[in-house]
Amino acid sequence: MKKKKQDYSHLSSEQPIGVFDSGVGGLVFAKEIKEMLPKENLIYFGDTKNLPYGEKSREAIVGYATKITRFLLEKNCKAVVIACNSATANALNEVVELVDGRVPVIDVINPVAEKVAYEIHNNVGVIATKATVNSGLYRKSIRKHNKFIKVDELATPLLVPAIEEGFKNHPITHAIIYNYLSNNKLKNIETLILGCTHYPLLMDEIKQYYGNRVRVIDSPGIVANQLRMILEQHQLLNDSAALPEYHFYLSDITKNFEKISKKFFGKSIRLELEVL
Ligand code: DGL
Repeated sequence: MKKKKQDYSHLSSEQPIGVFDSGVGGLVFAKEIKEMLPKENLIYFGDTKNLPYGEKSREAIVGYATKITRFLLEKNCKAVVIACNSATANALNEVVELVDGRVPVIDVINPVAEKVAYEIHNNVGVIATKATVNSGLYRKSIRKHNKFIKVDELATPLLVPAIEEGFKNHPITHAIIYNYLSNNKLKNIETLILGCTHYPLLMDEIKQYYGNRVRVIDSPGIVANQLRMILEQHQLLNDSAALPEYHFYLSDITKNFEKISKKFFGKSIRLELEVL
């Protein structure tokens, strides 16, 4: 099917950018967007009540992702960022269908896969949730652009609960990381993709494990840059002098979300409970 050229002339640059994830993972991406695009208004939805997405069926994930997208469109967002790999891997088509060309949709797998396919020429490992690994989307997307790259994917499901529990720099998390990264499947990799938006919160620990042996891809930077390019292309970058507004909606308010969101966005932000 031929892709039609998108017309977003009905949108205005002051409308917010909508970002969603199952929990705190998407916050890393929202923070990167805030740093790259400091004038943009943001609306974040964290579906903490339904976490972890990585353990859910495709049908369940499609249900959550489409409900949240509808909510973000009702909130007048000018773009939707699916800041969740499990939702991208299982519900990207459904989200795009629902949005029906009204606003751009940015996901966290395709821009990263494309960048890796063109810039990396060696063995790539992907660690992600079960829902993402089972979809095989990273391998498919990378190899669509570059058939010569070997892609090994490993499900690492214990990392999300450890991160949501706030176990950063904790012996439990170190043991989990050691156990997963020493898996035979990842033995020959030279590049690693953190295929779950929660994992960059453990970037230091993961880099520590590898030393300089393995390059870890900066997915939040790649995705924020993709968003910036799309907004720029459609004259949708906000250049208003007003202070940006940040709104956070959560289906269940958790201490860890509160802590990380305040660390990234400042103490004055308010979290609103929103059960869809
Ligand atoms: N952060 C999400 C991802 O990128 C989901 C983690 C989860 O809820 O299992 O896959």
